[in-house]
Amino acid sequence: MINAIKLAPSIISADFARLGEQVREAEAAGADYIHIDVMDGRFVPVISMGTPIVEAVRQVTRLTLDVHLMVAEPERHIGAFMDAGGDIINVHVEASTHLHRIVQEVRGRGRRAGVCLNPGTPVSAIEEILPEVDQVMVMSVNPGWSGQRFIESALSKVQRLRRLIDEGGFRAEIEVDGGVTPENAPRCAAAGANVLVAASAVFNDRASVSENMARLKEALSRVGRGA
Ligand code: DX5
Ligand code: ZN
Repeated sequence: MINAIKLAPSIISADFARLGEQVREAEAAGADYIHIDVMDGRFVPVISMGTPIVEAVRQVTRLTLDVHLMVAEPERHIGAFMDAGGDIINVHVEASTHLHRIVQEVRGRGRRAGVCLNPGTPVSAIEEILPEVDQVMVMSVNPGWSGQRFIESALSKVQRLRRLIDEGGFRAEIEVDGGVTPENAPRCAAAGANVLVAASAVFNDRASVSENMARLKEALSRVGRGA
């Protein structure tokens, strides 16, 4: 049976001049999480946003804040992002020398710990940490920008991860991040993902946030019905 799929709109594509309003629109349209993409100009080429934005978003919603740290040496920053109101703290395995310590610290503060895999990083990189984590993020683009094309090989990665999690009886949820659209969202869900991040498919000039969210939800409603 396929569980309900959670949607995590990423504010990276939102209108920053109306950020609070955009977050409220996403919440009203049925968002489950608000995804916050933190880029440091080192782990990824560009700089995006930091703790003040997390604090600001925390003021306008009670939704789970899913903080995606695309930063070098994330151990130096996880405390500040938890203080700012992050609920799920996701770090990249490629950036974390002491991944286990980071996961322990996040869970020790009662937050959820997520680990992220770049497209070129194998599932085996998280084999040891898998029993300890609350979420695994499978990147379906190379992190750095919104609006990139979905990398199809992410789907088989999700399938393999789903098998490992189910066989091990682990609690980790599987999140897919990058290039998610109404076209590929059902395939992500069918592969075994249960949280989908979407930035440019939710916040764009073509339609309202509620229309875009409705399209994603409608596409997902077909999963399990042979779509
Ligand atoms: C990748 C970020 C993503 C991304 C999503 O750098 O982690 O969250 O911006 O953007 P879309 O959904 O437009 O690919
Ligand atoms: Zn992200």
